[in-house]
Parts: sequence; C-alpha cells; structure tokens
Amino acid sequence: MNYDQILENARQNMGGRCLVCKDCNGLACRGKLPGPGGKGSGSSFMRNYQKLQELKINMDLVYHKSPINTQTELFGKTFEYPFFAAPISAVKLHYFDYYDDEGYSKAVVNGCKASGVIGFTGDGEHKECYTMGISAVKSAGGWGIPTIKPWAVEDVIQKIKTAEEAGAPAVAMDIDAAGLPVMAKDKNIGAKSVEDLRRIAESTRLPFILKGVMTAEGAEKALAAGIYGIVVSNHGGRVLDHTPATVEVLPDIVKAVGGRMKILIDGGIRSGIDVFKALALGADGVLIGRPYAIAAYGGGEEAVAMYTESIGAELRQTMIMTGCQSLSDIDSSVLWNK
Ligand SMILES: Cc1cc2nc3c(=O)[nH]c(=O)nc-3n(C[C@H](O)[C@H](O)[C@H](O)COP(=O)(O)O)c2cc1C
Repeated sequence: MNYDQILENARQNMGGRCLVCKDCNGLACRGKLPGPGGKGSGSSFMRNYQKLQELKINMDLVYHKSPINTQTELFGKTFEYPFFAAPISAVKLHYFDYYDDEGYSKAVVNGCKASGVIGFTGDGEHKECYTMGISAVKSAGGWGIPTIKPWAVEDVIQKIKTAEEAGAPAVAMDIDAAGLPVMAKDKNIGAKSVEDLRRIAESTRLPFILKGVMTAEGAEKALAAGIYGIVVSNHGGRVLDHTPATVEVLPDIVKAVGGRMKILIDGGIRSGIDVFKALALGADGVLIGRPYAIAAYGGGEEAVAMYTESIGAELRQTMIMTGCQSLSDIDSSVLWNK
C-alpha cells in the first residue's frame, strides 16, 4: 500500500463527503457541517491552516552531530513522537457509513499503538459514539484517550469511570462542543464553572485534559481547577466562526500557564514541520484530526501507522535541519523573526 493508493481509497470510502484535497485547508469543505468542514464561512478552520503556513523556520547545520530523539513523555507514558490522533466521532454522520464509530476508533487507536503514539476517541449526540470508542480503547489494552462531551457534571463523572475501567492512561473533555450544531440542541451540554471542572478532575486518578481552550484567561481557569493539561483548540473551526488561529493564541497561553500544566494544540497541523512549529511556540504536544481520518478511511490501521511514521520522519528531518537533537531543543529561536 502506498500513500497515493490510500488517498484514492479514502476518496471512495468517504463517499464524497471529504474530497481528500491535496492541501487539507478547509477551503473546499467550508460550511460543510455535518461533514468534515469548518462552521459557517469556514474561516476558523482556514485560518488555523494558514497561520501555520506563515511561520518560517531558521536553518542551521553547523553543530556537533548526534542522534535525534523525537520521544516524549505525557500522561505517565513514553511516546515515539509528540503528536497524536485527535478525537473524531459520529463518523457516519460526518463521513460515510463505511465505518461505525467502533470500526473507526479501532483503526485509529490500533494504528497509533503500532506506531508508538496514542489515539483519542470521541463522544456525540448518541451514547454509542462514546461507548464504541471505549470499546476500541479497551480492546487495545487501554491504549487510547476517551474524550467526553460537556454533559452534566454527574454524567461526565460517570463516563470517566468507564474510561478508567477501559484502562485509559488519561481522559479528556471537549468543553467547546456546545458550539457544534447537533450538540447545541441538547440542553444538558454546555459551559462548566471552575468548581464544576475541579469536581470532575478530582473524581478521577487519571490525568484530566480540557480540550477547547482559546484564551490565556481560560487556561488560567483550567489551572485553578487543578487540571493536568489543556488542548488549545477551536475544534478544527467547527464550533465558532471567526476565531483566531490556534497558533495565534498559543504564545499568550504558554506565557500564562506554560510549565504549570501540559499544553497540547490542534487545528490545521498537516506535517512534521507544522508539529515542529507548534512545539517551537511552546506546545508540549500536538493533535492531528482530519488527516488521521483520511488515513483510517484509506487503509485502516496500517495506513494510520504509515501516516504517523511519515509525519514523524518529517519532524526528524526538520530537527536535523535546525540543529535540534531532542524535543527540548525546539524553542522560539528556531522560528524566523519571532
Ligand atoms: C468529523 C469530525 C468529528 C469530530 N469529532 C470530535 C469529537 O467527537 N470530539 C472532539 O473532542 N473533537 C472532535 N473533532 C475535532 C477534532 O478532535 C480536532 O479538534 C480537529 O479536527 C483538529 O483540527 P484538524 O482536523 O484541522 O487537525 C472532530 C472533528 C471532525 C472533523
């Protein structure tokens, strides 16, 4: 299986919902929701992508050569690379009936496991979205991170118990999900106070990750609630039109809470170079969404593992070209004019 075949298969298996564009930048699918696109004008998705492209890297080959190490430690586990598959669910609604949420989650979670990273699983309007993800995590021996919608606090705590039972190393909640058109109709979904977040975080021994933080103030509130980490995310531009790009807000968030909690980021990350740029701006790790879905639809877990390896190889090559031997060498000095 080569990558061109994977893309061709994905085009077929996604039934035209995702066009598998050469550049996955939100242009062709703007407003396609249900579907893989960004909300409204699609500007939040497109800006995530565009602002990453605008960052440029300083090249430097004058250094003492030694082996490159791309490994990182998060949630008490060691990973080959600092990037992970983002949670994607309700796949029949957004893509096509080639997979249900269990088949999709299994392809992602197992492919990630085979290539030394980890996959997140999602949640949705129907309870099966979550339980099918949990079942994939369980069958991978706990190698996956369930992501729960912001239901009522007691319901979130209940769902966290099933993540614990599945053996997950961490659990997440996408607090921004109230902006999804299908979820907005549900009155049980919505914002959480610092006290709510503290109750949720204290209900579990697992590291709790809050996904969908876009301001330094939001990050400080998450820190005050005792949360392990955040994902700087606008849900791939699917919850609110006209947000800044995630890489635009990342530096302020790092300034506010960096070193005191883990900071992950997603939105428009498409290459190992993009992963490198996010780390240079201070992220501890990165999630990649739609391209992992394309890999899963194009060739199941084997393609997911191949995709991970290709992004990892680009990251390693970027480190060689910039004199960064380990991830801790990647800081803002590698970015031009920053
Ligand atoms: C079809 C689709 C379904 C998604 N489902 C979920 C979900 O269930 N939970 C969640 O936290 N995020 C969900 N997301 C958002 C992703 O986790 C991630 O934040 C986003 O896709 C990152 O941007 P990228 O796709 O540009 O890399 C979904 C995204 C897409 C495209």
